[in-house]
Amino acid sequence: MNSTLTVRQNLDLLGKYRYTEIQMMEIMGNWAHTITDPEAKIGFGRQMFQDSRHADLLGKRIPELKGRSQKFHSIAPSDEFVRLLEKIWEANNDVLRLVALYRVLKPAVAAAYERHLQQLELPADEPTAYILQHVADEERDHAAWAEPIIARLIVQSQRGEEVLRWEKELQSDLKNSGGVRGEGKMPGTYSFKKTHPYSTRPVRDLRWNVSDHPEQFTEKNWSFDSSDGKLHLLHDLLNSEFITVERMGLILSDFPEIPWQMKLDMARQAWDEARHAEIVQRRLEELGGHVGMFPTSCWGWEQDVNRPDPLERLALSNMTFESESCKHLRDWIAKAKAQGDARSQQLIEFLLADEVNHVLYGVHWIDELTKDDPERRRRVLAYPEELLKGTHPVGVNFEETINVQKN
Ligand SMILES: [Fe+2]
Ligand SMILES: [Fe+2]
Repeated sequence: MNSTLTVRQNLDLLGKYRYTEIQMMEIMGNWAHTITDPEAKIGFGRQMFQDSRHADLLGKRIPELKGRSQKFHSIAPSDEFVRLLEKIWEANNDVLRLVALYRVLKPAVAAAYERHLQQLELPADEPTAYILQHVADEERDHAAWAEPIIARLIVQSQRGEEVLRWEKELQSDLKNSGGVRGEGKMPGTYSFKKTHPYSTRPVRDLRWNVSDHPEQFTEKNWSFDSSDGKLHLLHDLLNSEFITVERMGLILSDFPEIPWQMKLDMARQAWDEARHAEIVQRRLEELGGHVGMFPTSCWGWEQDVNRPDPLERLALSNMTFESESCKHLRDWIAKAKAQGDARSQQLIEFLLADEVNHVLYGVHWIDELTKDDPERRRRVLAYPEELLKGTHPVGVNFEETINVQKN
């Protein structure tokens, strides 16, 4: 017999689903800078965003079912389930990570939603059906997207047997934990922090040549009005796009306490940057270039992702580097237009539209979260100025940018 779910049963389950979606988002965010495979890195950027929207949609239904208090919004299914997530998060190579996420966790989530859909009181609970159907479809898409990458990585790494053992072990852990619905278990109280050790640079695949001498790095001096200049600038930009997927992921995983809307913005930016990496690489290749054709630099990474205050990271990278980048992109658009390179012009206009929003995320969240804390505001805004003194142009005036945004 398949009895339908009551309001209260629904509510408990939605809180568990929302918890799991947020955990998956944070795990991908934390992994992005240490995963080698570029296709997986880009996929994480896109799926961090999608999982944030899944959690957001579920979170909108919860108060409608009278779950107004915060405790309904995130319920760990069981301690065993949380420990399973921790074990998955600790996996330290690409193929084991992808297998855990896409062959175990995401299919379990999709199956829980599909079962839930069978148990709905309809049409009374059509609003829940509307959300779960959409979320289940996207989770199935994520799992299907990963399969060819997993197959390729198994061959490359020659870890076929280890992968099978790992998958079997995780499926058994999942079953014993009561799964995404925490069946037969009390809600969990255990939690773990997804911290990363001090990071000097993000991981790149073997094609890249990352320079250890940022002071000798002059790629940004090229001009977009020659074919060589385009290749140099697009190649340098491609690396920056990857860096930004990775640093957004770290804000999501390092600071679970930031406001929900800020997480949605960071996840959105991770998606934008993942798309930018795809777009920029495609244009680079259309123009005869390829990944790794020039040395590149990850200068700025170390100074960003090791800051303990997320607003210092936004002051440095969103408000300073990305604001600089907007100026460059405007210059590239003008040069592409002058040369009749309509393809580059069109693509860069789309990039610029996104970048302007990224600068505003920085401005908005620094303004909002330091409104009543002038000391923090001073420290946050002083950070890029001190760091870049004499080494790099600092192009942002906080008060001016805020006024532009508000007018
Ligand atoms: Fe970008
Ligand atoms: Fe950006």
